[in-house]
Amino acid sequence: MSNIKRGLLIWVEVNQSALSHNIKVFRKLVGPKVLLAPSVKANAYGHDLIKTSKIVLKSGADWLCVNALFEARQLRTAGIKSPIYIMGYVLKKDLPEAVKLKCRLVVYNHETIKALADAARRLRKKAFIHIKVETGNNRQGVKMDELEDFVRFAKRFPQIVIEGIATHFANIEDTTDSSYAHYQLKNFMAAFDGLKKIGVKIPIRHCANSAATILFPETHFDLVRPGIAVYGLWPSEEVKKVAQKKHRLISLEPVLSWKTRIAQIKEIPKGAFVGYGCTYKTSRRTRIAILPVGYYDGYDRGLSNKAHVLIHGKRAEVRGRVCMNIIMVDVTNIPQARVEDTTVLLGKDGREEITAEQMADWAGTINYEITTRIREGIQRIIVA
Ligand SMILES: Cc1ncc(COP(=O)(O)O)c(C=O)c1O
Repeated sequence: MSNIKRGLLIWVEVNQSALSHNIKVFRKLVGPKVLLAPSVKANAYGHDLIKTSKIVLKSGADWLCVNALFEARQLRTAGIKSPIYIMGYVLKKDLPEAVKLKCRLVVYNHETIKALADAARRLRKKAFIHIKVETGNNRQGVKMDELEDFVRFAKRFPQIVIEGIATHFANIEDTTDSSYAHYQLKNFMAAFDGLKKIGVKIPIRHCANSAATILFPETHFDLVRPGIAVYGLWPSEEVKKVAQKKHRLISLEPVLSWKTRIAQIKEIPKGAFVGYGCTYKTSRRTRIAILPVGYYDGYDRGLSNKAHVLIHGKRAEVRGRVCMNIIMVDVTNIPQARVEDTTVLLGKDGREEITAEQMADWAGTINYEITTRIREGIQRIIVA
């Protein structure tokens, strides 16, 4: 074990070769001409914005997608020069900074266009925009019947470059039925066909998240924006099922492991209660290990009395409620467990593995939330 890990109480390991492998899988999937723009928002789905971004770019990604200006700022401060696409809203007052940082912005309202053009004119620069089209998600986006007017409006400003047109699927992960996704795809294609008729050709068309990129090559167009699958996790069981059926099952390698150490071990008698609310009562003499991690760190309270951790390659069950900074696990069947032994909260230990999907199932959520909620202050370590 490296010295750095030896000194840590809670840490996340980011497997560089798995991440690099996943990027190469996506490159193969989309071919050399489609821009590969992984989503590194939400601290790269909990994997570390900067460290992850550097690895994905080195492994062959072309652009990075973030949600917010602060993420773009962090990337630029870290010396990252690749194109950055901001997918979330940027306040009008912050648009000059977005222009200075050479970000591509998603736009869907007139106010942003006006303020952006103003900022770009004052800075004597161009502003690159991607128009978001509302094709059926009813989230961000310009309505289909307002698109032509919106484009005409944007074209009035010489500082504005309409570089892209984008949309996002509403119902592609939660189902094995692709009809709604294809309805949106049809709308999306109608949008740029309509624009072509008024003489507007937008160079970069994009709509594909992980599920679309894996399942439907017809959604790749000029750029893809996969997130979850880049980190080696399937968007859902349904997507995996459809991929299998369509012979598009790709080999993804989970990138993240989450670890801590045992802080104390104690024996308690049969019939004793464990933790707040006395929600667990021992049914035998029990050896309990105390772990210094809790819901503050992103270990969901829904894991109380449900989850397992791995110690010496064996499963130990969480007993009682998850506290703010502590959990208790049953190590009666792991007699070799000692104070400061490494404990795997998420990831592999020997032949055993706690997957993000299993944890999500215990906590009543999705794998996306499991990794993104791991507290940002916990150190991420790159492992080979
Ligand atoms: C606009 C947009 N594009 C792409 C993605 C990536 O999606 P996924 O993680 O399912 O691949 C997201 C994620 O939420 C998104 O909001």
